[in-house]
Amino acid sequence: MLNRNTIEIIKSTVPVLEKHGEAITTRFYQMMFGNHPELLNIFNHANQKQGRQQKALAGTVYAAAQYIDNLEAILPVVKQIAHKHRSLGIKPEHYPIVGKHLLLAIKDVLGDAATDEIINAWAEAYGVIADAFISVEAEMYEEAEKQNGGWDGFRSFVVDRKVKESDVITSFYLKPTDNNEIAQFLPGQYISIKLEIDGEEFTHIRQYSLSDAPGKDYYRISVKREAGTANPDGMVSNYLHDTVTEGQILKVSAPAGDFVLDTEKNTPVVLLSGGVGLTPMLSMLKTVVDVQPQRNVTFIHAAANGNVHALRGEVDALSTLDNVNSFFFYDGPTEEDRHNNSFDVEGYVTQDWLVKNIPTFDADFYFCGPQPFMKSINTSLKNLGVAQERIHFEFFGPKGSLEESVTKEPVSV
Ligand SMILES: Cc1cc2nc3c(=O)[nH]c(=O)nc-3n(C[C@H](O)[C@H](O)[C@H](O)COP(=O)(O)OP(=O)(O)OC[C@H]3O[C@@H](n4cnc5c(N)ncnc54)[C@H](O)[C@@H]3O)c2cc1C
Ligand code: HEM
Repeated sequence: MLNRNTIEIIKSTVPVLEKHGEAITTRFYQMMFGNHPELLNIFNHANQKQGRQQKALAGTVYAAAQYIDNLEAILPVVKQIAHKHRSLGIKPEHYPIVGKHLLLAIKDVLGDAATDEIINAWAEAYGVIADAFISVEAEMYEEAEKQNGGWDGFRSFVVDRKVKESDVITSFYLKPTDNNEIAQFLPGQYISIKLEIDGEEFTHIRQYSLSDAPGKDYYRISVKREAGTANPDGMVSNYLHDTVTEGQILKVSAPAGDFVLDTEKNTPVVLLSGGVGLTPMLSMLKTVVDVQPQRNVTFIHAAANGNVHALRGEVDALSTLDNVNSFFFYDGPTEEDRHNNSFDVEGYVTQDWLVKNIPTFDADFYFCGPQPFMKSINTSLKNLGVAQERIHFEFFGPKGSLEESVTKEPVSV
């Protein structure tokens, strides 16, 4: 337990560190990767280049420091990050490396303002925060390994089938090479894939939500090709699309994540997705149908048009059921889409449309998609008075904020 003086120093210096937050974490990563290049096998290089991970880590260290005398209060946040850490294989021995370089970076950026007293206080505080993560992660490692079909670290899976679902999304059906049982997952959870790519110095790890219902003898992921923008093409998604073939072995960590459908509840459920954000939603839809056939579910999916609309047949097949209602939004339908009447609404999912078409807002809402889509849905639900605990969402990248204003119209991918 930290003494009162240390707690006071921490709380009074949080605003200073927040002000220099990004400078400190940018410096921190430079120094840490300089001294420990092996960590580039774990971190996502594209997130680094875009500064996204910097923001996530800095924000969390300062948030945790604000609650240094009551870390229980941020346990849900710690758990959500710990899921990702466990899925990536972050171990207790990694924490001192991060701690050391964070303190070096604070000293470096703040100069003389970072007195010994301040540095010592932050060293103690980091130790307390790190211990909280390490103990939550220890439980998660144990659970991942001890459950039926569970395992530690990365296990070999073979690509049993590779199926093109749309112009941009392809599914991979993965079966363990040892032919033993695989761990069950909760609808909404993801796995991490670790790839060794020819010509690449480091391994690359990415998360993919499981897109089929739980209870199969395989895991299915559905991957969107990230390409065609001014930025470099996505490393892993393009490799999976272009190079990985049926029969190839991939390294996979056990399912993780706390964005899961609560099947203990019977409230109506509304699943909203934009683009490839449909993967966890489809798993949730299939689960409701399988285990809660009386529960009302509305499935709303936004895509640019029919060419990039994946897994439609699976949703159509379930939409014939009495408890399932589905709506497809296209913001750039093709002539063929128009001719075939293959969408319900042209444009984006708006608050006005939700008011007119969602039977009740006394429901649980789950959503995932591009950030502008998520911001827009989040704002609409808040405006419509949906309680925070009824709003659940997943980011397909480092957790960001949905509270910033939406500066442009929602886009679909
Ligand atoms: C919990 C979770 C679940 C997910 N589920 C899915 C899923 O079901 N399906 C799915 O398709 N994806 C999913 N993702 C996203 C997935 O993990 C990858 O992020 C995605 O496939 C892109 O990886 P990549 O290696 O192809 O792209 P990266 O190489 O990681 O690049 C990511 C983006 O950054 C851009 N970029 C790269 N380098 C630079 C640079 N130097 N400067 C500026 N921009 C750059 C790229 O153009 C690309 O748009 C999920 C992510 C999370 C966190
Ligand atoms: C107390 C210390 C730490 C804090 C507060 C912290 C915080 C975070 C946060 C907020 C995220 C983003 C989570 C998300 O988007 O879901 C994250 C992801 C991640 N963390 Fe940590 N972390 C800590 C320690 C570590 C350590 C010790 C390592 C390994 C050396 C590590 C490696 C990673 C990696 C690889 C990611 C995935 C993001 C990416 O690759 O870009 N973290 N962490």
